[in-house]
Amino acid sequence: METKIFSKDQLDDAVKLLKRGELVAFPTETVYGLGALATDEVAVKNVYAAKGRPSDNPLIVTVSNPEMMARYVTQIPEVAEKLINQFWPGPLTIILKVKEGALPNAVTGGLTTAAFRNPQDKLTQELISKLDAPIVGPSANTSTKPSPTTAEHVFHDLNGKIAGIVDNGPTEIGLESTIIDLSVETPVVLRPGEITPEQLSEALGQAVLMNKGTTQTKGVPKAPGMKYRHYAPSAPVYIVDDVKDFEKIVYNNQVGVAALSNVLKNIEANNTFNLGENIDEAAHNLFGALRYFDEQKNIKKIYVQGFQQGDISAAYMNRLTKAAAGHHYFNK
Ligand code: TXA
Ligand code: MG
Repeated sequence: METKIFSKDQLDDAVKLLKRGELVAFPTETVYGLGALATDEVAVKNVYAAKGRPSDNPLIVTVSNPEMMARYVTQIPEVAEKLINQFWPGPLTIILKVKEGALPNAVTGGLTTAAFRNPQDKLTQELISKLDAPIVGPSANTSTKPSPTTAEHVFHDLNGKIAGIVDNGPTEIGLESTIIDLSVETPVVLRPGEITPEQLSEALGQAVLMNKGTTQTKGVPKAPGMKYRHYAPSAPVYIVDDVKDFEKIVYNNQVGVAALSNVLKNIEANNTFNLGENIDEAAHNLFGALRYFDEQKNIKKIYVQGFQQGDISAAYMNRLTKAAAGHHYFNK
C-alpha cells in the first residue's frame, strides 16, 4: 500500500478513505493521531495492527464538538461541562462513562469508560465534521517510539501500513494532551500535559488528584498505556538535571546531546540537537530530538536536558523519564 500525503485542499480524499474503513493520520495541536472510524470495529483493530500496539490499551475518541461526544456517554456531568467550556477545543482529554455497546470493544478495551478529545486543528475538525462520526486517535507512531510531531515522522513509522496522512505542518505543543478521568468521584489527572492540574482545579473549583503510579488499588491499570516502555530510542537515554553536569560529560561522535542553545554553546560536543531557547520550545522539540538520535545506528548514549520550572515541565519530564527508563546522569 502506498501511503498518500494530503494537503488541506485534499481533505475530501481523506474523508473518503476513512468512510471506507481505511486508516488516515491527522494533525492536532499536540501530536499527529492515527485516525479510523471509531464506529468501525474492523478499522479500529487495524489501528492496533499498524501501530503494533497491545490490544488492551484503549484508544482516544476524537470528536469535532461536545454534541458528538454526547451521542456516546451516559451523561455529561457538571465537571465535564466546566472543563469543556474552558478548554475545548484544546489539549485536554476527558474520560467519561459510555453507554453500553455505543462504541466497539476495540475502542474502549472493554472498559465502561472512554477517553474523548476535541483537538484545535481546523483541518481535523473539518475532517470529523464531514464524516459526522468520531475517529479514534492514538498517536500515529509505532508503539513504544516517540510520538510524531510532523507528517514526516508519521510517514517514517507507518509508510505502507496506512492509507494516508493529512499534513498540516509541525504540531504546536509537541507533547500529548492532558488526560483527566471524570468517571470517578474525585477527578484524577492520568497523564500530564500542557494544561496543568492547577488550571484544572481552578476551572473546577475543587481539588484534582494526580495519578502518580500507573495502577489502581486493584491492580487494574488506569491510563493503561502508562505501563508500557515508551518514547524510547534504541540507545540509552540519560536525563541531565543540573546544567553544570553537561561540562563533565566526555563527548565523542557516539554520544548525543539534546539541550537548550545556551547550554550547547558552552560545551565541546559535536553530535548535538538544539532544543531551542526555553522549556516550551524544548517540549515542542523533544520527540524530534529522540527520533533524530534514534536514526543514528552508532550512537551509544543520549543525554537530554531536564527541567524543573515551567507549566509544561511536568509533562516534559513525564515523557523524558519514560524514554530514559528513569535514568539520570547523576545516578548513572
Ligand atoms: O494528544 C493526544 O492525546 C494524542 C492526539 C493524537 O490526540 N493522542 C494520544 O493517544 O496521545 P494515545 O493513544 O497515544 O494515548 C491515549 C492514552 C493511552 O495511554 C490510553 O491507555 C489512555 O489514553 N486511555 C484511553 N482510554 C482510556 C480509558 N477509558 N481510561 C483510561 N485511560 C484511557
Ligand atoms: Mg501514544
